[in-house]
Amino acid sequence: MELELSQRIGKLKTSPIRKLIPYGEEATRKGKIIHHLNIGQPDIKTPLEFYDAVRNYFEPVLKYANSAGTPELINEIKNYYSRRKMNYSIDDILVTSGGVEGISFALTAICDVGDEILIPEPYYANYNSFFNTLEINVKAVTTYAETGFHLPSMEEFEKKITPRTRAIMLSNPSNPTGTVYRKEEIEMIAQISKKHNLYIISDEVYREFVYGENKAISFGTFKDIEDRVILIDSISKRYSACGSRIGCVISKNKKLIQSIYKLCQARLCLPTLEMIGATALYKIDDSYLEEVRKEYEKRRNVLYNELREIEGVIVRESEGAFYSVVKFPVKDAEKFAIWLLEEFEINGETVMITPVEGFYKTKGAGRDEIRISYAIDELKITQTMAILKEGLKRYLKEESKRY
Ligand SMILES: Cc1ncc(COP(=O)(O)O)c(C=O)c1O
Repeated sequence: MELELSQRIGKLKTSPIRKLIPYGEEATRKGKIIHHLNIGQPDIKTPLEFYDAVRNYFEPVLKYANSAGTPELINEIKNYYSRRKMNYSIDDILVTSGGVEGISFALTAICDVGDEILIPEPYYANYNSFFNTLEINVKAVTTYAETGFHLPSMEEFEKKITPRTRAIMLSNPSNPTGTVYRKEEIEMIAQISKKHNLYIISDEVYREFVYGENKAISFGTFKDIEDRVILIDSISKRYSACGSRIGCVISKNKKLIQSIYKLCQARLCLPTLEMIGATALYKIDDSYLEEVRKEYEKRRNVLYNELREIEGVIVRESEGAFYSVVKFPVKDAEKFAIWLLEEFEINGETVMITPVEGFYKTKGAGRDEIRISYAIDELKITQTMAILKEGLKRYLKEESKRY
């Protein structure tokens, strides 16, 4: 007799980013070179301070560390925040295995089965892994390419609030849209949270990466909502250290942090060596982060100039993170993405892009949108965009024959 799996695991969907991987693997097997405009893995070198600190570490016994994280790392995170005029105490900070563990712990601590999270869509699709496994219902508030994916009115949010709504969740700067929310938007969310007694889960892992006039305003800077705010943070993107899996969850709400601490204790602790490396990263002068920000800003400008040349494309300049969501003149961006991998090539080369439909909760929304990442360097962006533009031209010719 076949062994059964849980219904819960059955509800877990593959990520829309990973969905295209088999097509990519097949294209690679056939000898095609794939250029990636789909990834969230920066190519910026991880600072050597990380590796030096790990190399210099020695203890006769590699013991369990504190469940909350090493005191040294927590202290450096606290210092990082106080340089940004956010005064957290060491008891407000729990180190987690990347931002994602912080998200999963926060949701576990505040939601029961059937509770609801209010979230602007499109949103980071991986959140669904936690919504699905924890059986949390998502209430999505749609945002649009035409308005740069900025937030709609307070009424649009309030329409979706029910007695089961527990929190408003968002990433700022946003993955996938690259939108940086304005002060008025942040204040509106704060107001809604107070009026309807909700938590705010603010995923700020891209905090440093804001461009032009934009400023990333942290929910952590608002005194009157400090009990409601749960900050999610990580070194993955900030220090280009995705593989170290070090993040944190921060809140001034003592009861909440004590509850999340129980989850930290249940998984015992994080890898000591990774925390040693992360501590060294947090000690690096903030001017390093400014250099990285400038590098992404250059890439963003190159990408934007390439995109706005394409006829029929709706694109706004990305304001932050290293993503842009673009409306393409195709009926179905997923079909286009698969076609690029299966049927298209120029001199044996093609492009992988991310269809955005899977980042929406609303069925059919975003079908003609793609997310482009500028985590790759300027030259590669230019070269890859040339391939994408040619691909689009040929696809549109074929599409017009098909329909
Ligand atoms: C918005 C957002 N939050 C969280 C994460 C996960 O980060 P981490 O590597 O810290 O788990 C990502 C990764 O891409 C992300 O884009």
